Amino acid sequence: PRPGWSTTADVVVIGSGVAGMTAALDLCGKVGKVVLLTKTVLTSGSTVWAQGGVAAALDPADTAEAHLADTLVAGGGLCDEGAVEILVSEGPAAVRQLIDRGARFDQSDQGEILLGLEGGHHASRIAHAGGDATGAEISRALAAQIDEVLQHPGIEVIEHAQMIDLLTDEAGKVCGVTLHVVGAGTRDGVGAVHSRAVVLATGGIGELFTSSTNPPQASADGLSAALRAGAHLADLEFVQFHPTVLWLGAGARGQLTLISEAVRGEGAHLLDVEGTRFMKDIHPLAELAPRDVVAHAIVRQLAKTGSDHVLLDARHLGPEFLAARFPTITRRLLDAGFEFGHDLIPVAPAQHFHSGGVLTDTNGRSSVDGLYAVGECACSGVHGANRLASNSLLEGLVFGRRAAADIVRRIEAGDLPYSQPDGPRAPAGLVAGAARSRIQRVMTAGTGVVRDEASLRSALMALGNVPVDAHEREDLQALPQYAEWETSNIHAAAVATTLAALLRTESRGGHFRSDFPAPSESQVARTVISLGDNGVL
Ligand code: SIN
Repeated sequence: PRPGWSTTADVVVIGSGVAGMTAALDLCGKVGKVVLLTKTVLTSGSTVWAQGGVAAALDPADTAEAHLADTLVAGGGLCDEGAVEILVSEGPAAVRQLIDRGARFDQSDQGEILLGLEGGHHASRIAHAGGDATGAEISRALAAQIDEVLQHPGIEVIEHAQMIDLLTDEAGKVCGVTLHVVGAGTRDGVGAVHSRAVVLATGGIGELFTSSTNPPQASADGLSAALRAGAHLADLEFVQFHPTVLWLGAGARGQLTLISEAVRGEGAHLLDVEGTRFMKDIHPLAELAPRDVVAHAIVRQLAKTGSDHVLLDARHLGPEFLAARFPTITRRLLDAGFEFGHDLIPVAPAQHFHSGGVLTDTNGRSSVDGLYAVGECACSGVHGANRLASNSLLEGLVFGRRAAADIVRRIEAGDLPYSQPDGPRAPAGLVAGAARSRIQRVMTAGTGVVRDEASLRSALMALGNVPVDAHEREDLQALPQYAEWETSNIHAAAVATTLAALLRTESRGGHFRSDFPAPSESQVARTVISLGDNGVL
């Protein structure tokens, strides 16, 4: 059957993290109608889990140039400098807009925003909220604003909405989206929203791996839908593994507890299981080296010591200070049986962020007309091979605003007309939900923190062996469950990411190849992946 319901909006925004909510708020009132889709509820997704904060040169002694320099170094020579310039120079205004929208950052008694330090930064420039609950505060403030503007007829929020696919017209322009809404609400079942433009703000790829700091919604939906619609994807091989994720044994799966880099910013050390503070010999910034450097150093140390975790030592900071500065982490550790400030905390790297994504320009435009991408699912070039700590919330803010402004300009100029979809689009086949854990195991073993040709080839082969059931395109619209859509997206993104990792025969940033352990001067171009005319990568 065809979609059971349909509606029309100027713009559909998919995802309610910082990037999606910022774009939706900036569009509201400036275009006729915005529909904001969210997979569960407004305040779910990755943003709400962000601990450390938002990086921006807010201190009068700091400069956008210094923030730029740190971002470029972390990016391992692959950042687009123009995009980074925009990020760091528009960052402070974007943070101020967020404050105007009600976000409350931690302040000194004199009312100045307190700024923390994190890996790869040479200045304290991380604005935080509730100590270590920055994402939760940002999410709360933006969702409250959305609730307020919901009185406005120009915005509709559809919760529990799983995007099925993008609609494209005869010329290939994106002209809407099909979706599956589960649960009570004004809309239910399979539907379609026809629009002038679609903004993907769907977040990351945590569900590609056995463990991640991401919530389960991070299943590469935007990435895979963009790929199917013909968009170019870039830098997919640069998957960031956070060095300090609570290690709860080899069997721990799914979303794991992040121990913010800000804890090391306050002076915590990393010890191997023999008690050696190994980072001191590896990088002048020691534990505060860029994230990829710390993650790889940990993996090497694990091999050396034959262990599966290292230890985070914050005992010298004292339990009182830690509980006040990091209340969320203190609570989560206590739930797991650790007393922060008394106990050594076992940690190991786990998947955290995708530096690559849907290739966009600095206004969020993808290579497909009418399709925008912002936030983690996008690749505007600001992260290069490795994102600098706390640049992700900033990216969502800055590029959410820019995409909205670009769409408003284009609609005013008559440049984004409505058009007719060229029949329903959908993946050629679907992967059963039950295949998810197999894909995650394959990706973790083959396309994890350390890769080589053999591991990547065997991952590609195993992914190729995952059964994909052919369905009639029309039948796909009737599927009753999220699981198949999600797992199909996870599978497509896993194949594309592994292929990108195989193509880059060097090590750089978040991409570490043990068979090519050094960077290669000749590989400074991006890896761009798209579907060929035959529908194959
Ligand atoms: C953290 O708090 O360590 C994570 C911050 C980030 O991913 O930038």
